Amino acid sequence: MQNNLLSFPSIINLGIIRGICHCNCVHCPIGLTHQDIRKRMFGNLEINVNTFRRFCEEIVRHETTVRLHGVGEPTLHSQFPKLLEILHQLNLKTKFWLFTDGLFPTHLIPQLIRAVGIIEFSINSTNKQDYLATKGIDAFERVNNNIYQMRDFVKSIDASTRIVLTRVKSKFEIDNEFIEFWTAEGFECFIRSYHTYSGILESRGINTPESLRNLPKCLVPWKRSNFDGTLLQDKLVAVTCFNILFQHPSLIPENYKMGIFPDSSLIDIWNSLVFTEFRNKLEQNKITDTVCDTCSECMTNSGPRAENLLRKTF
Ligand SMILES: C[S@@+](CC[C@H](N)C(=O)[O-])C[C@H]1O[C@@H](n2cnc3c(N)ncnc32)[C@H](O)[C@@H]1O
Ligand code: SF4
Ligand code: SF4
Repeated sequence: MQNNLLSFPSIINLGIIRGICHCNCVHCPIGLTHQDIRKRMFGNLEINVNTFRRFCEEIVRHETTVRLHGVGEPTLHSQFPKLLEILHQLNLKTKFWLFTDGLFPTHLIPQLIRAVGIIEFSINSTNKQDYLATKGIDAFERVNNNIYQMRDFVKSIDASTRIVLTRVKSKFEIDNEFIEFWTAEGFECFIRSYHTYSGILESRGINTPESLRNLPKCLVPWKRSNFDGTLLQDKLVAVTCFNILFQHPSLIPENYKMGIFPDSSLIDIWNSLVFTEFRNKLEQNKITDTVCDTCSECMTNSGPRAENLLRKTF
């Protein structure tokens, strides 16, 4: 048994908020849901600050990168500055990555730079019109302003923080223009492949009966550790896949849950019997009774871009 234990993968996803976001993105289940009913549809818990601290204290001991994300916008956590303070106090900057829509108050920039190693802005556009058409709000200038102010601040103090700009894949010409524009402006940027959140959104014609029959084994349960602080009060729940978080917590079946922190340690959950049995089923191509049985968005060895991004040094 000892030989089968897995060390943490290079990326842990941590959900810290749900049910609120500034944007109405056309490619996201939150964005496609009316602002007024988001909390009802997706729930409204946020990670408890003390639980976050306990999580971080364990992360100090592991060689991994934690991506702060949300079923919504992470920087809208009611105590977000406190979360940043914990990262700073524990000297965790190089281990943390933040997903954001970039619409945080500008005065937060110095704290963000001090606390987080990679800040990924889902700006999605190069101009006001496309931003409005894809992000669903008229806020291109505000995000733009934060991006340039952050870059100037990073330069002024010679900080090691990386600013990364992304767009969700759409038409080739627009995606290409996004890369050319932001590269010319001197930013790291890339196109995120479109996914349907394992079937929650339309597949845009990517899946066919033929492709579904020839699925490769999905590496997510080996390559990503997914914890979420918004399903249970004061706890983190380990789940099989990030995609299944995009629904109301009451609808997430028990067999997607692999353990609870801090009742068990992060690494014990990762190596728990229930998680091992789930992986064994996938490995042996057995029915898992989860969305994995029909999901066509499997991560393969040739796939993961996030690891490539990490390989660059801070
Ligand atoms: C769900 S958002 C949550 C965090 C934050 N609100 C943001 O936009 O960065 C996390 C990332 O998923 C991306 N995303 C949203 N919908 C997507 C989709 N259908 N396919 C691929 N990536 C998507 C966003 O652009 C963002 O980079
Ligand atoms: S992608 Fe992010 S910014 Fe856009 S609606 Fe979804 S959660 Fe909000
Ligand atoms: S098969 Fe799909 S739902 Fe299952 S872990 Fe992989 S990406 Fe997630």
